[in-house]
Amino acid sequence: MIPESFIQELRFHVDMEQLVSSYVRLQRRGRVSVGLCPFHNEKTPSFTVYPDNQSFYCFGCGAGGDAITFVRRAENLDYPEAVRFLADRAGLRVPDEEGDDEGARMKLRVLECNRAAARFYYDTLVSPAGARGLQYLRARALSDAVIRRFGLGYAPAGWNALTDRLHALGFTEEEMLAARVAAPSKKDGRAYDLFRDRVIFPIIDLRGGVIGFGGRVLEGDGPKYLNSPDTPVFKKSRNLFALNRAKASKQEGLLLAEGYMDVLALHQAGFDNAVATLGTSLTAEQTQLISRYAREVTIAYDSDGAGQKATRRAIGLFEQAGVRVRVLKMEGAKDPDEYIKKFGAGRFKLLLQSCANATEFEIGRLRQSYDLETADGKVAFLNEFAVLMASIRNPIERDVYVKKTAAELAVSPEAVLQMVASNLKKRRGGEARKQQRDLHMYVGAGARGKQNPERERNLKYALAEERLIAMLLQNPDYYSHIAAQIGPEQFVTALNREIFSRLCERLRAGRSIELFSLSGVLNDEEMSLVSGLLAASPSARHSREEADDCIQVLKSHENEKSSGEVAAMDEEQLKRYFQKIVSAKK
Ligand code: UTP
Ligand code: MN
Repeated sequence: MIPESFIQELRFHVDMEQLVSSYVRLQRRGRVSVGLCPFHNEKTPSFTVYPDNQSFYCFGCGAGGDAITFVRRAENLDYPEAVRFLADRAGLRVPDEEGDDEGARMKLRVLECNRAAARFYYDTLVSPAGARGLQYLRARALSDAVIRRFGLGYAPAGWNALTDRLHALGFTEEEMLAARVAAPSKKDGRAYDLFRDRVIFPIIDLRGGVIGFGGRVLEGDGPKYLNSPDTPVFKKSRNLFALNRAKASKQEGLLLAEGYMDVLALHQAGFDNAVATLGTSLTAEQTQLISRYAREVTIAYDSDGAGQKATRRAIGLFEQAGVRVRVLKMEGAKDPDEYIKKFGAGRFKLLLQSCANATEFEIGRLRQSYDLETADGKVAFLNEFAVLMASIRNPIERDVYVKKTAAELAVSPEAVLQMVASNLKKRRGGEARKQQRDLHMYVGAGARGKQNPERERNLKYALAEERLIAMLLQNPDYYSHIAAQIGPEQFVTALNREIFSRLCERLRAGRSIELFSLSGVLNDEEMSLVSGLLAASPSARHSREEADDCIQVLKSHENEKSSGEVAAMDEEQLKRYFQKIVSAKK
């Protein structure tokens, strides 16, 4: 258990705005800061940070909470890990570091096991036993400096080279298996080395932890690359190779390549902003992650058909994450590694400077998929081209592409512009409807409805409960006044009842109910709800009478349960009705 006094101390060392800023570009708007939500895809900012009470709330997806909740979600950590993360940032030591959390302990051991394995692979590579591996890497033109910088290694051919070393270092078989550097043998379940006779690429996360490995065969049998499976500390879909180095690069944006070797060759050639996925195709989680570090990404996938297909897919994902895309067009080489070897870093740099944006890439692709020599082909191409153009927001940009393409196809630019205009009209209709939906989401507190399934059916009571909870959070000194009149059992909806009862428990024990101390007590959903309530109730000062009114409403539940009239009201009517009761009593 982490002592409460430490949580209180930590609270004074964490600045919510500063913390969030390392993930989200925030803009100040009066007393709050807003930005694009890191927890769902959006184009207009609805993620809000409240410096006043050190909380955040997203009006789009309903996620909310304090700094600890934020870190838990953003870094995918559990509670003690999130506390440790914040403590590290603040330069504090968490007392009782080992903790009694078995999961956290295992994660720690897995990380230690990985680090020891990486050390072993590297030591082997530069020892006589690793001569084969070193020779291979050098034959692929990697410098000793890059080999050292990335901690590359060699896994020897035997079955137990690594496991023996790890045993000697005090790791248990259970830990080696959990780290997936070893696999259990079918015969007796004993751990044997997963990577054998391969060069090793350690995968390092943003905090410098070794979270997994990629291993390449030198020659011969087996899959070309073997990657660590997911483990308690490694999710392939959420990490990128070399992001730990690329994030510190001084170069604009990031370079996304397909493989380990491309990234290494790129870094060696000075393009130290290169990253790659880890043996899987790009995921939305990865584009979200990238969007925290770059506004623009240059895709440098293989020049073959598969690479081009993956490029299109990636463009879509990056658009959703709000990241600008440029696409590298390599000719005469299969991938960046090969290109640099053949033509040199200078040529690659020129290639980078001249590379197409996502629209140009898409136009090029469309042109290739139609026979522009025939009239039918031209028409079909132009139809799709017009749809593509309608998706561009900037009219000048649209004009440039239309004029250029019309000239190339020898058709009248006016005719093409007209096609674009009709597509634009269609599109605007759809967008207006979408905006309407978003707006509804915003005012209708749709998120709160999602969190509390009983809310819609009991709107009147749920609103009273929510106000009471908000009031208590903002005026804990009302506790005895409120507790004398009502208890959690009189709450109508289960979620609010749970929250209220947790708050009362703590207040009764004389403990803090500041958001920061609540994240260990409430779950994500409850934290989101509570933060949403605070976000919707900015004036912190409430009168005791207001509390009394809410209590009256809840007490009336017994009698009014079956009142059809109230049940038929929509949320707006109810709010007014409720307001009326409140003001009538003042
Ligand atoms: P490529 O086959 O394009 O390899 O796979 P490469 O990067 O050019 O590697 P070299 O130059 O032959 O050494 C690209 C990426 O796909 C994943 C790896 O992450 C690799 O870096 N991959 C490929 C696998 O995970 N398993 C495989 O068997 C092959
Ligand atoms: Mn290659």
